[in-house]
Amino acid sequence: MSSTEVAVKTEIKARLIPVYIMGKKYEVPETLTIMKAIEYAGYKYIRGCGCRGGVCGACSTVYRKPGDYKIHVGLACQTVVEPDMYLTQIPFYPALRGTYDFTELTGKPEEIFEIYPELFRCVACNACTKVCPMDVQVMDYIAALKQGDIQKAAELSFDCIQCGLCASRCMGELPQYHIAQLARRISGAYLTPRAEHLKTMVANIETGRFNEGLDKLKAMDENTLKKTYQEREMEPATAGEDWAPKDNQYL
Ligand code: FES
Repeated sequence: MSSTEVAVKTEIKARLIPVYIMGKKYEVPETLTIMKAIEYAGYKYIRGCGCRGGVCGACSTVYRKPGDYKIHVGLACQTVVEPDMYLTQIPFYPALRGTYDFTELTGKPEEIFEIYPELFRCVACNACTKVCPMDVQVMDYIAALKQGDIQKAAELSFDCIQCGLCASRCMGELPQYHIAQLARRISGAYLTPRAEHLKTMVANIETGRFNEGLDKLKAMDENTLKKTYQEREMEPATAGEDWAPKDNQYL
């Protein structure tokens, strides 16, 4: 039996549970994610769905559980349904993106203050952090930025997938995820130390150091190429910091 057939059988065997989608009751397999349950019920995603793997941020959603006053949030592609959940799919959440020419920035905090003056409207209520499906410390990175610490903000916001839920709950009406993206861009371009070995390698490529080796590979027939690949020297999984290949002509 193929893995697809096994998956289909497993899905059929799964217990059906009631959920409410846009207020209408449906019976869906209990093993499905919110995204799949909505599709199982007959809806078709045209927007609000991207990677289906929890990284693109397109599918942020809100839901309620029976007897629970809280509004819950999550990624529809990652959150599994529960009985009697009230589900919906929220659209792309609009938030104002600052206008700037990145090539004119120099990496000073004042530049972020100028592009996003609303940064200082944060009242530190922490609603943004509570709503983040990636557990990013949103309020903390905003606080770091207010103190001019772009690098800290870039690190704290590293797992942000730009779903926009933070902006949806912010009483100061900040576009947190856009601000954090600018911080990470500045961090990458101006604040992170350059990789010197990369510079050396690029220079080596430009001066043609690898041309002879590449020409040799290009001249090989398929079988020789495969054999060469299979027999290449590989770094052992347990190699220490001082490991180096025996053939070091291209280092
Ligand atoms: S579809 Fe990409 S995060 Fe859910």
